[in-house]
Amino acid sequence: MRISVIGTGYLGAVHAACMAELGHEVLGVDTDDGKIAALSEGRAPFFEPGLDDLLISNIRAGRLCFTTSLADAALFADLHFVCVGTPQLPGSLGADVSSIEAVIDRLAPELTRDCLVVGKSTVPVGTARRLAARLNSLTLDGIVAGLAWNPEFLREGFAVHDTLRPDRLVVGVTSAEADAALRAVYAPLLTVGTPFIATDLATAELAKVAANAFLATKISFINAVADVCEAAGADVVTLADTLGHDKRIGRHFLSAGLGFGGGCLPKDIRAFVARASELGVADSARFLHEIDEINNARRRHAVDLSRDLIGGSFADRNVAILGAAFKPNTDDVRDSPALEVAAAIRSEGALVRVHDPRAIDNARLKRPELDYCDEVDKACEGADIVLHLTEWSEYRNLDPVHLRSAVRAARIFDGRNVLPLGRWRAAGWTTRSMGAAPA
Ligand code: UGA
Repeated sequence: MRISVIGTGYLGAVHAACMAELGHEVLGVDTDDGKIAALSEGRAPFFEPGLDDLLISNIRAGRLCFTTSLADAALFADLHFVCVGTPQLPGSLGADVSSIEAVIDRLAPELTRDCLVVGKSTVPVGTARRLAARLNSLTLDGIVAGLAWNPEFLREGFAVHDTLRPDRLVVGVTSAEADAALRAVYAPLLTVGTPFIATDLATAELAKVAANAFLATKISFINAVADVCEAAGADVVTLADTLGHDKRIGRHFLSAGLGFGGGCLPKDIRAFVARASELGVADSARFLHEIDEINNARRRHAVDLSRDLIGGSFADRNVAILGAAFKPNTDDVRDSPALEVAAAIRSEGALVRVHDPRAIDNARLKRPELDYCDEVDKACEGADIVLHLTEWSEYRNLDPVHLRSAVRAARIFDGRNVLPLGRWRAAGWTTRSMGAAPA
């Protein structure tokens, strides 16, 4: 099938490469010349494991091209995936859908044959129905452009795997033709038994927002319990393990610590609250305010616990921060808990050095006031405390004996509950974590 993928940010770049991998002829479209130039050479403008290889092999196979021309995409494709961003609106909880509206407004008049436009972006429920009417009113006489919604559930860091081996496919459709077209797109995934749920537009839109709201709720639940563990002298990691053995609960997304960040979970729960309020059911989504609050409090709590550990004040102390990305295996620092903690500690008068295996360039753009180091040893040199805030696997394997010779005082705070703190203590470190009494 001939497919265009409009918007080559995170979602679009991954989706374009994966659709080509499924055997389709794909044209990726973006207004950003720089992104299109990089992608045409097989380079993603961000770090995502496995993506560059997929881009290169599909470009070489002749299945994947990129352009800045929406008119070319209109000519080329029978099916257009819209993958542009829907960030939080400044000064509001709601999501900004103006980029999707702009795509529809620019694409519709260029269409010269019948086609299907498929939204993949995360949107407030009701957006798709509005866009369908808008698309219909802007297409030339005689052209039929259908609209469907097909939310994406990929995780950064596992994006290629999640797109090519999804847990489920959800499509919101209003015609048998749209249903058939989407089944054809995903045929290779359907043959291996991927669940395919065809539903109405509103349910498809909500399927995504509700999933992210549930994941955020799970994380804030365990973080609230972590506070009780701390106060009661219990251990949240063992507790989460016990909960996880219950198949009705499951262990995923029950890792307590610094909480969630990134470009999705925080803004999606806020947009859900905003939309519920517009729909007159604000009370039903009110608990998500609490989820957001619990999450934001984790960052302040991490600063408080670390300040305690260092003896009551950060002023003129050297602080090493391990991790800047909002989670491992990505260079994304949007709403990164680690970076926010680093900045808060600096604002209390500390000299803060940050290490991250991938995210330093993005972190420097966002927080230029912090110092950055390419090596863990350099970041830790002369440190009065080390804070582990993003759980890159390489931090788990650090040698506490070796690192002790670099720091000025052997204190480690584990904000992600994954370091083998027993080993660190055996090497002479004072340790502290989130969700357990001080060791
Ligand atoms: C999330 C969803 O997991 C995807 O399904 C969804 O497609 C995506 O948002 C999106 O809307 O596009 P992502 O933002 O890549 O994916 O990150 P997650 O893996 O969900 O992690 C989110 C945050 O929660 C991270 O900061 C992570 O450190 C934190 N987290 C995760 C915890 O604090 N504890 C956990 O147990 C799990």
